[in-house]
Amino acid sequence: RPLDINIELPDEQSAQKLKIGIYFATWWALNVVFNIYNKKVLNAFPYPWLTSTLSLACGSLMMLVSWASRIAEAPKTDLDFWKTLFPVAVAHTIGHVAATVSMSKVAVSFTHIIKSGEPAFSVLVSRFFLGETFPLPVYLSLLPIIGGCALAAVTELNFNMIGFMGAMISNLAFVFRNIFSKKGMKGKSVSGMNYYACLSMMSLLILTPFAIAVEGPKMWAAGWENAVSQIGPNFVWWVVAQSVFYHLYNQVSYMSLDQISPLTFSIGNTMKRISVIVASIIIFHTPVQPVNALGAAIAILGTFLYSQVSIQSLVV
Ligand code: 3PG
Repeated sequence: RPLDINIELPDEQSAQKLKIGIYFATWWALNVVFNIYNKKVLNAFPYPWLTSTLSLACGSLMMLVSWASRIAEAPKTDLDFWKTLFPVAVAHTIGHVAATVSMSKVAVSFTHIIKSGEPAFSVLVSRFFLGETFPLPVYLSLLPIIGGCALAAVTELNFNMIGFMGAMISNLAFVFRNIFSKKGMKGKSVSGMNYYACLSMMSLLILTPFAIAVEGPKMWAAGWENAVSQIGPNFVWWVVAQSVFYHLYNQVSYMSLDQISPLTFSIGNTMKRISVIVASIIIFHTPVQPVNALGAAIAILGTFLYSQVSIQSLVV
């Protein structure tokens, strides 16, 4: 018997590693495509409240169709599930719209450099709102994250306060979303994919009235006409692409969250940002000064140091 276990375990482990590797590669690739189309759409049609709403609407529709056609099994939920989901959805909505507003004002790479500071927000929120304490190396690892983000921000050629604040608000909101989702997914019977589907639907209901109040159909109609006259009828496919890829990358990320610890997830998320930053700088020819790139590199290095000391002190 023990011999059987010895023979089977390495196979199972490598299959699991391969599965997570495929999830991660798919998640990053989908995210890069989303970020490119999202920015192309925002450049021609600067209405981030509508584009954020459309991404949630598209994901919700895709999941409703999958459930109705039995491609995916619909989850069995009760009132308690939706009540627990509500704070997660509020945080997801704020984080999503704030990141999109940010990307409508600044380069995609800048938004993601600031968003690589998310672990710092996570530690500060846990410390000051939840009263958790951390070992000294964890606090020290925040210094390069905060310092690197600050250096990148002050040397950003196209700095914009709304763009900066949007990314900061998104960081704060997503930390709360992750804390609430961890609680909501504990002992759950709903899979990662369906959990994210329900989250999209609730966020859509929350965001729609705000999008109408902030921007509204009049602005959208005029902006749409302008975008179509600049880009041509293909513009609609850009909007479809940003919406579909937004749902897909989030769905895959929630599916991988099912398999791994939140810490491994956050390391994966930082590596995702590196691919987005590099791809968007190349595609949009974003001007980068050496000192600006240095700030980004320090911030990302800080995130890796944070993950290392967190693993050692088991901060998960
Ligand atoms: C959004 O629009 O929700 C953001 O682009 C999300 O950013 P993240 O998933 O990379 O944190």
